Amino acid sequence: MDHLRDLPADFTWGAATAAYQIEGAVAEDGRLPSIWDTFCRVPGAVHNGDTGDVACDHYHRWREDVGLLRELGVGAYRFSISWSRVLPRGTGAVNPAGLAFYDRLVDELLDAGIRPFVTVYHWDLPQVLQDRGGWPARDTAYALAEFAGVVGSALGDRVGDWFTVNEPLCAAWIGHLEGRMAPGERDVTRAVPAAHHLLLGHGLATLALRATLPAGSRVGAVVNLSPCEPATDDPADVAAAARADGHTNRWWLDPLHGRGYPADMVEVYGVEPPVRPGDLETIATPTDHLGLNYYFREVVTDDPDGDLPRARSVPVPDATHTDMDWEVHPDGLEQLLTRLAEDYRVPRVLVTENGSAWRDEVVSGTVADLERADYLESHVAAAVRAVGRGVPLAGYFVWSLLDNFEWSYGYAKRFGLVHVDYDTQVRTIKDSGRRYAKLIAEHAELTSGG
Ligand code: IFM
Repeated sequence: MDHLRDLPADFTWGAATAAYQIEGAVAEDGRLPSIWDTFCRVPGAVHNGDTGDVACDHYHRWREDVGLLRELGVGAYRFSISWSRVLPRGTGAVNPAGLAFYDRLVDELLDAGIRPFVTVYHWDLPQVLQDRGGWPARDTAYALAEFAGVVGSALGDRVGDWFTVNEPLCAAWIGHLEGRMAPGERDVTRAVPAAHHLLLGHGLATLALRATLPAGSRVGAVVNLSPCEPATDDPADVAAAARADGHTNRWWLDPLHGRGYPADMVEVYGVEPPVRPGDLETIATPTDHLGLNYYFREVVTDDPDGDLPRARSVPVPDATHTDMDWEVHPDGLEQLLTRLAEDYRVPRVLVTENGSAWRDEVVSGTVADLERADYLESHVAAAVRAVGRGVPLAGYFVWSLLDNFEWSYGYAKRFGLVHVDYDTQVRTIKDSGRRYAKLIAEHAELTSGG
C-alpha cells in the first residue's frame, strides 16, 4: 500500500459511532426519551421491533470499547452526545450524571492517546422538543445552540474537534419526507422548514461552540453526499439527476457556503424555506472543517409520478452491492472530495464516515469479512487519489467501530470493525479491523521519515 505515503504524516485515522446506536441505558441516570425511543415503539417502524434500549451497552462497557479502539491503533474516535442525557428536557437544567458519562469517556480516550471528535447532534432529538414542534419549529435551532454551548463548556478544554450536526439530509428528508426515520413524517411542508432549522441550528451551534471553546478548536458540520448520475442520456433522466443532486448535495452545500438555497429545488419542493433576515449569514458562518460521510452513488431515472425529488434510483448492472443494497463505488468518494475542494473551496475536510454492512458470522472466534476489508482499502485508495488532486483531506473515520443499531434496520445490518453478539455483548475484532490496524501502522511507517 505504497500510496499511503501520499497522505500527510499527521493524517487522522479514526472510527465513528453515535450515541443512540451504541449506548443503551435509555432510562438510566436521568436520561429521558428521544424521538428514536418513541419511533422504535411505532409498530412496523423498525425491523423486528428492535430498539436502542440496550444496543451495545456502551454506557456500561465504554472502558472496554476504548480498549478496542486502542487495539485497532486508531488515533481518533468520533462519537455523539445524547441530548436527552445531558439536557433531559431539551433546554434548561443540565443533568450532571449525563454529562459525567462523556467527561469520563473523554478522559479515558485521552489517556489512551486517542483524540476525541465530538458530534453534538446525531438525530436523537429529545422527545420533549418534538412535542413542542421538533425541527419544523424554529425554536429547536436555538435549543441546539444551547445544547452545544453546554457540551462545549464542559468538554472544550479537552476536545478540540467538533461537529454540530450529523447528516441533516437524513433528519430532514428521511425523517420528515420519507417517514423512514424518526419522527416518521411524510410532509414536504414540514420537511423543508425542518431542513432550514437544522442548518440554522448548525450555524447557531457553531457560534455557541466558538463562544466556549479555546482558540485553535475546530468546528463544522457533517454532511452525507452522493454523486448523482443519470441512468441514460435521455434529457428527462439528466434532469432527474440534477434534481437528485439538488436534493442530496446542493440543498446542503450551497447554503453552508453562502450561496443560499438552490432556486431550482425550491421550485421542485413547492415550499419556500422559512428564512428570516440574517439566517443565511448564520448558516454560512465560516467553519474550520467539513465532515463528509460517503457510502454510495445514486444512478437515477426520471420518475414524474414518484416521490420528491421525482428521481428514482436504479440498480447498476454488474455492480457489487453491500447488505444495505448500496453500490460499492469508491470513485464516488474521490469525486465528492474533489468537488468540495474545487467547487466549494472547503479549507479542510475529513471523511467522517465510510463503511459497509455485510452478513458477518463469527466462526471459531474470527470474522472473515473480506468484503468489508476490500471496501475499506478501495475507499482509502480513492481518498489518497483525491489528496493527489489537491484536496485538503485531514482524516478518515470508518463507520463503525462496533456493529450497532442501524436505525430502521434495527440490528439486522452490521457495519462494525468489531462484531457484537447482542445476546452476550461479546466483542470480536473482525478481520477488517485487523486490516485497518495494519493499514494505519503502514501509513505511520511510510511517513515516519525513518
Ligand atoms: O448508521 C448510519 C449513521 O448513523 C449515519 N450515517 C450512515 C450510517 C450507516 O447507515
